[in-house]
Amino acid sequence: MKRPILIHPDPRLKKMCATLPDVDDRIRKLAEDMLETMYDAPGIGLAAPQIGVLDRIIVMDCVKDEDEALNPMVLINPEIIAASEETNVYEEGCLSIPDQFAEVTRPKQVQVRWMDLNGSEQTQEFDGLWATCVQHEIDHLNGKLFIDYLGAMKRQMITRKMQKLKRDIARGKEA
Ligand code: NI
Repeated sequence: MKRPILIHPDPRLKKMCATLPDVDDRIRKLAEDMLETMYDAPGIGLAAPQIGVLDRIIVMDCVKDEDEALNPMVLINPEIIAASEETNVYEEGCLSIPDQFAEVTRPKQVQVRWMDLNGSEQTQEFDGLWATCVQHEIDHLNGKLFIDYLGAMKRQMITRKMQKLKRDIARGKEA
């Protein structure tokens, strides 16, 4: 089931999310809904707080080539355990900040540990776009958005645009 994506600014996007003790039916359904919501948007990553659920779970699929098979990933309680000194700059966007993009510098490679949907521990190294995406999504679990890496002026400009967008959406719904 597709779920509505919260638009910044929203207090739920600024919260520290809770660690999940184990995987149950609620989490399996949540992961399924998050993947459906992400693919529908479409986006390459989604974190639970973006649909208003304050749990540490993210989904992603950074396969861009349409001829390539889908590679949906579900990461529960993801943690960065190592990061390269070498950095990478990507023009980032966010489903909670539609149509706004800005360059963000992050480590080029990161090693991440998480719990999968079977409750097993996984560790994997991510590189390139996958590395940027996993760091962006883990930030969401700590109440951090990509615009928090920008200067105050740019961040305020984007936030004002989003406030206007939300007002327009609210008006549209009334009409
Ligand atoms: Ni995002």
